[in-house]
Parts: sequence; structure tokens; C-alpha cells
Amino acid sequence: TTVNELDKKRMLMKRDTDELVRVHEKNVASMWRATYHVEPVTGLMNDPNGFTYCNKKWHLFYQWFPFGPVHGLKHWYHVTSPDLIHWENRGVALLPTGKYENCGCYSGTAISEGDTIYFVYTGNYRDENRIRRPHQLLATLEGDEQYTKAMRPLITPNENYTEHQRDPKIVRIDDMYYIFLGTQNKQEQGVILVYCSDSILTDWKFLGELKVKGYENGFGYMVECPDVQKIGLHDVLIFSPQGIEPSGDEFHNKFNSVYLIGDLDLETLTFTPDGPMQELDRGFDFYAPQCASQNVYSDCSIMSAWFGVPDYTYPPTDEEGWSGLQTFARELTIRKGKLYQTPVRGIESIKKDELFCAKNGEIISDKLHGQMPNSAIIRIENPDAESLDLNLFSRNYVIARGFAISYDKYAKRLRIDRSDLTNQLNVEYGTERQIILENGLTSMDILVDHSTVEIFVNEGEYVLSARIFPTKEEHMIRMGGKNLNLSIWSAEQTVD
Ligand code: FRU
Repeated sequence: TTVNELDKKRMLMKRDTDELVRVHEKNVASMWRATYHVEPVTGLMNDPNGFTYCNKKWHLFYQWFPFGPVHGLKHWYHVTSPDLIHWENRGVALLPTGKYENCGCYSGTAISEGDTIYFVYTGNYRDENRIRRPHQLLATLEGDEQYTKAMRPLITPNENYTEHQRDPKIVRIDDMYYIFLGTQNKQEQGVILVYCSDSILTDWKFLGELKVKGYENGFGYMVECPDVQKIGLHDVLIFSPQGIEPSGDEFHNKFNSVYLIGDLDLETLTFTPDGPMQELDRGFDFYAPQCASQNVYSDCSIMSAWFGVPDYTYPPTDEEGWSGLQTFARELTIRKGKLYQTPVRGIESIKKDELFCAKNGEIISDKLHGQMPNSAIIRIENPDAESLDLNLFSRNYVIARGFAISYDKYAKRLRIDRSDLTNQLNVEYGTERQIILENGLTSMDILVDHSTVEIFVNEGEYVLSARIFPTKEEHMIRMGGKNLNLSIWSAEQTVD
């Protein structure tokens, strides 16, 4: 089926199972299928949803259109994990069967109490006149697959705002529940609305707009996917504003996800930031992050995100009929007032064979012979590096740059560049990203998984994520630099 022939309004039915099983088998044979990242069973995946810990498992859901690589009628799909590393497909979770979901079950979050997970999400509803009237809805999951939807919406459209009201984040603070809702005001500015109740199930009251000091005109023209986290002693506001202009090395993607560290006062509905709004990920493909509501770790928040951006296309897998994946789950911590992001603990366990090792620039072992593995974990420690050049998936061993990662010690500039690869992506937003590292470069952990690269710089001070679709001819790795300490491992498959 071509994209144009797809029925974007199609809802999943029991009778579709055989068809989807066949499509899934075809998709997993793709050369760009990841092996340790969560990917859609079929069709398109975008935002993470309903992320929480319950009944000794992590539960993650994702925005899902089952039938092709387009943003059609959205369902929720469910995956679970014991450790945030090994993931199992559990089947469809929410189907857009209700009146207020006639245009899809949009993004939302979860909170778990006892054995029950409560989901609060947006019913993307259009009335008889095709006017969009988003409602915030409730559903529950008990045990492994007993989903129940509440009869009545929790929150009806707020008439003082435009039709853009979505992506509720539910949190419990002391004995109260709060919902933070991404919204557009009538001046077309992005704002966050706050609702509260002493019960998840009923009596939600509108408190007002969250006032963010220094941002009295809101954020761009719309805020999507707000999230509030307590990390150590700090409050962190995470969201995906739309319409932020590029500035310096930041905000070059069509849409960006950002964070503010500060102090949240629910009495006055004020968030007072300690510093500037910053991009969460400095690469090309990252959006709509969501932190798990419940968490087994007390020293960090856990975050997943869509490894993609709205309106971008990814032609190589679009042509195969599927699209999107999740970033590798990250731990968020604050050190010396700065947000750090690291791959979740336990990642060491998926490092299989050591394929390459150099110490102080001297090669200790090399099983690669210049061949780039499709899935790998790379660690670089090189405090004194003058310069560093890493070319992943280059076409030859002489000049091709492939996916280039380079560091210039004098300019303290770290740069990624994907312009040399055969398959070009969303080039109108540029083919390079760079960061000036005030404190220089001390380490990098690079996760490579067929069509993805995630670079964690200086133990998580910055992260850059990029989709890439290397062809069969792009299979070499070139490494240049002085005094490098560099190891490369193959990675174990942890996802279907
Ligand atoms: C963000 C988003 C959300 C919406 C969902 C629909 O990518 O546009 O605002 O709820 O995706 O799939």
C-alpha cells in the first residue's frame, strides 16, 4: 500500500491481527531496524505516553498508527520492561473507540496506585461541524490487560483558549493531584494550564496559567507535552514549545524540547527559573520527552522521548511502511545546578564483545578492521585530545566522512555532521549541529543502533541524537586523534 492509499482514519480491529503480524515480520527484517531501542510493531510511533512503574515492571506506551508511516488515527501501544533495557511488546492499549476520541487518543501520562495505572490523555475530538474540541480523558489498567475508560471526561475544553489544549501531565504532590496541560492562548502564545483535584477520578478544578518568570509572553505559539519533575532539591519543567526561533547553536530543529531548572510554587502558580531555557538534546531528532511518574530510583528521573520531530520525514523506513522509535531511556540528575542525562543504569550489561580498544592512541586490540558494526557502544576518554575525528558509516577509508563527529580543542567545539551520508534527512534544518564545551571534552559514550546515534558528552552534560540511514556501501569506520582512549563493543539485542 502506498502512503496515499492508506486510510488514515482506520481503527485497529481484531480481524487485522494476521495482517499486522505479517507486516511486523517484514519490518523486523529491515536493515534499519534497531535492536536495543523500542520501535513500533508496525506503522508509526511518535510520543512516549503513560510512562510509569507498576507491579514490578516499567510500563511505556506510545502514540501509534498501526497501518503505515503517517500520523493517522492515533492509538496507544503498550511495552513493558523489568529494567528499562529489555522490552517486550504487550499489544494495543487504548483504541479510539469513544465519542471524544473520534480523531484519536492523543498523548497523555499515567500515575500508578496499588495495582492500578490511571491514564490521563487527550481525546482529540471533532464535533459535527469538524470543530476541534479536545477533552482530557481518563482510563485505567488493572492487571495485565484490563483497560477501562471513564464515562465522563475529566476536563472539558477551556473556552478561554484555542482548540490547542492537549498532553496532560498528571502528578501527585503531597495529597493533591495536579494536571499540567499544554495550551495555546487566544494571542496564539504557548502556555501551560494547571488543574487540581483531591481525587484522580473527579472534581478537577481549573487553577489558572502557570506563570513562568521571564516568559510573560509564553513559549512560541504552542506548548506540547509539559512535564514537571522534582530532581534532588530542584523543580524541573520540561516541555516541547513550538515556534521557537534558532539562536546561536540552539533551537535549529523544526520543533525543540526544552527544560528550565527552578522552583515551582503551586500556591502562586509560579515557576521561577534559575537559568535560561535550554534544549534537552542538541542533535537533530528528538521531541516530546516524558518522564516516568513512578520511579524505583530515588536519585534521578527517568525519561523516554520520540526519536523524531513532527513534520519531518524519514524516507528510508517510510518506504518500508514504518516510522519512528524511542530514544534509549535516560536518567536525569542535577549536578552543580546543571541537568545531566545518562543512559539508564544497566547499559553496561548489553556491551557484548569488545571489538576495538585503543589506549593513549595505541591500538591494543582490533577485531573491526575498519568495518563499522551496525549496532555498537563506543566509549572515548581522552582528556588531552588535541583533536578528534570519528567517521561512522563512511563509504571508504580515504576521504568519506560518513556520520562525522569531531572535536576541536582550541575552539572547544564539538560538531556532528551528517551531510556526507547518501540518505539525507530534513536538510532544510541543516546538516550539522555544534556545541561549545566551556569545560572541554572529557568523555563520550556513543550508542549506535542501525539508524540511530546518541552521543552522551562529558558523562551527560550534553546529549546529541541523530537518525541516520547508512546504505550497504556505508560500512567503514575511521578514527583519528591523538592519545585516544577508545573502546567499541557490540551490543546485545534487547528488543523484538
Ligand atoms: C506531539 C503531539 C502531541 C499530540 C500527539 C499526537 O508530537 O503532536 O501534542 O498529543 O503528538 O500524536
